[in-house]
Amino acid sequence: MDDHVVQPLLARTADAVSEAIGRVRPDSAGADPVVRRSGHADFQSNAALALGRRLGVAPAALAGEIAGSVTGVRAEVSGPGFLNLTLPDRVIWEQVSARGGPRLGIGRPERGRKVVVDYSAPNIAKEMHVGHLRTTIIGDSLARVLGFLGADVVRQNHLGDWGTQFGMLIQHLWEHPGGSAVTALDDRYRAARAEFDADPAFAARARARVVALQAGEPETVAAWRGIVAESERAFRVLYDRLGVLLTPEDSVGESFYNPVLPDVVAELRAAGIAVDSDDAVVVFSQEVTGPEGAPVPLMVRKSDGGYGYDTTDLATIRHRIRELGAQRLVYVTDSRQALHFRLVFETARRAGWLTDDVTAEHVAYGTVLGPDGRPFKTRAGGAVRLSDLLDDAVARARAVVAEKNPGLDPAELDRIAEQAGIGAVKYADLSTSRAKDYAFNVERMVSFTGNTGVYLQYAHARICSILRGASGATAVADVPLEPAERALALALDGYGGVLAEVAETLEPHRLCGYLYDLARAFTGFYEACPVLRAAEPVRGNRLALCRLTARTLGHGLGLLGIAAPERM
Ligand code: ARG
Repeated sequence: MDDHVVQPLLARTADAVSEAIGRVRPDSAGADPVVRRSGHADFQSNAALALGRRLGVAPAALAGEIAGSVTGVRAEVSGPGFLNLTLPDRVIWEQVSARGGPRLGIGRPERGRKVVVDYSAPNIAKEMHVGHLRTTIIGDSLARVLGFLGADVVRQNHLGDWGTQFGMLIQHLWEHPGGSAVTALDDRYRAARAEFDADPAFAARARARVVALQAGEPETVAAWRGIVAESERAFRVLYDRLGVLLTPEDSVGESFYNPVLPDVVAELRAAGIAVDSDDAVVVFSQEVTGPEGAPVPLMVRKSDGGYGYDTTDLATIRHRIRELGAQRLVYVTDSRQALHFRLVFETARRAGWLTDDVTAEHVAYGTVLGPDGRPFKTRAGGAVRLSDLLDDAVARARAVVAEKNPGLDPAELDRIAEQAGIGAVKYADLSTSRAKDYAFNVERMVSFTGNTGVYLQYAHARICSILRGASGATAVADVPLEPAERALALALDGYGGVLAEVAETLEPHRLCGYLYDLARAFTGFYEACPVLRAAEPVRGNRLALCRLTARTLGHGLGLLGIAAPERM
C-alpha cells in the first residue's frame, strides 16, 4: 500500500498537454508534448513550435488553443509559442505527502530485466591499486541503482585468477617459503618476475609448473587455490571498508572460463568467424581497421596454443547470454579497453550470441590523476595502494569534522571520519562524468563546501537535526506554497526521473548532480522559510518537506554507496 508508485508531476503535466493536443488537433494526437522544467514556471511545453511549423499554423496561436484546452494545470502562452505551465499549490503538497512511502513513490521500471554488471576485477597476487578504485565504485553504484529500479542484477567479479604468471608464483613460493600477507604476495610477484627474467633454469621450472597447473596436478592446484584465497581475503578487507556489495559468490574469475575456451574457439571456427593466421587463431574485425586499412584482429588462440584475455571475454559474453540469460551486459573497465570490448561485442554479434534483444555496454572511465595532473603514482613511480589512499582521505576528513565539532567524543569522531573520508573518495569519483580523467585532490574532496560528498552528508545531517524532536511532519494540501517551498518540492519530485536516466546512460554523475542541486534547493528553502518557528499548519508542511528531503538525500547517497550519518 505505502509502496505505491507516484507518477512524477513532469509526466503528469506532459500527459495533460498531450491530451489537450489530441483535443485541439486530433490528427496530431500522440505528438511529443515537449514538457520540461522551466525557470519561469513549474514546467514549460515547446510542443506548439514544431507542431505549428508542421501544420502551417502560427505557433503562438496553436499554443493559445492548447492552453485553452489543457486541464489540471494553468497554462500561459509566452514568447513565440511556449507554454508556461503552473500546477495548483494543492497538487504539489499532495505530491509531497504521496512520496512518504518507503520507496519514495518510485516504481520498478527495470523489473523483469536481467543485468550482469562486471566490475572491480582485481588481479590475484597483486595489490588493489588506484586503478581498481573507479571500476569498483562506479560498478557498485550502477548495481545499486539498477537493483532499486527492479532489475535482476547479477554482479560478476572477473578476478584475474588464471594465467602463466601462476607457474612462476607457485614455483617461487616453493623454492623460497615464508611470507604471507598480501603485501608479501605483491612483493613475491616482483621477486618471482625478477628471478624468471634473470635465471633461465628457474624460468624453465616455472613453465613446467604452468603445465602442471593446467593438467590439474593436485599439489600445484592446491598452491594456486591458496594464493587465490589469500588475495581474496585482502580484497575483502578493502571491499568491506569501501562498503561495496560484492560478496565471495560474485567472484567468477578468469579460471572459471578456462574449461570452455577450446569450445568457444571451436564454435567460432566452425562458423567461419575465427580463422587461422600463421599458427594462431584470430577473428578479423569487419568494422575496425588499423593502420593501412588492415582489419584489426582479436586473438582467439595464440601460436603457442594458449588463450588470453580476448578468448576469456568471448567466453564471458557467451556464458552471460546463454547460461545466465541476461538481457543487458555491462562491463565496467577503463576506457583504454574500448577497442577490446568493441571487438568482443562485434564477434559475439557475428556468432549469434548477442542478438537485438540483448544489449552489451562497455562502461568506460578515465584515469585518476595525481596532484601534478599526471596519472596517479607514488613518489617512487609505483601504483598508489588503495588502502593508503583511503587512510589519507579518512585522516583529512577527521581533521575537518573535528574542527567543526570540537566536543565530539573520539569514538564517534572515528566513526564519522571513516564515513566522511570514504564517502568523500567515492563521491569525488562518481560526481565527475566518468569518461573524463580527474585529479585526486583529498583537500578538496573532504571540504564542507562545494559539490562534495561531505557537503551532502552534512546537508543530510543538518536536516536530521532539525527533525530531531520535532513532531507532526504531515503536509496538508490547502496551504499556500512559497516559491522556495515550490522549488524544493519540484526538485524532490524529480528523483525517480534522474534514477531512470542513470539506469539508461549508466552515468552516476547525474545522480550526484541531482543530489547537489537538491541540497542547494533545501538551503534556499531553509533560508527563506522558517520551519520550527512557523505556526501550524505551515510548520507541519515545512517539516514534511524537511523529512522528504532528508530521506531523498539519504536514499540517493545510499545508491551511490555512501553513508548518510544523522550527526556530523
Ligand atoms: N582484471 C582486469 C584488470 O585488472 C579487468 C577485468 C575486467 N573484466 C572483464 N570481463 N574483462 O584490468
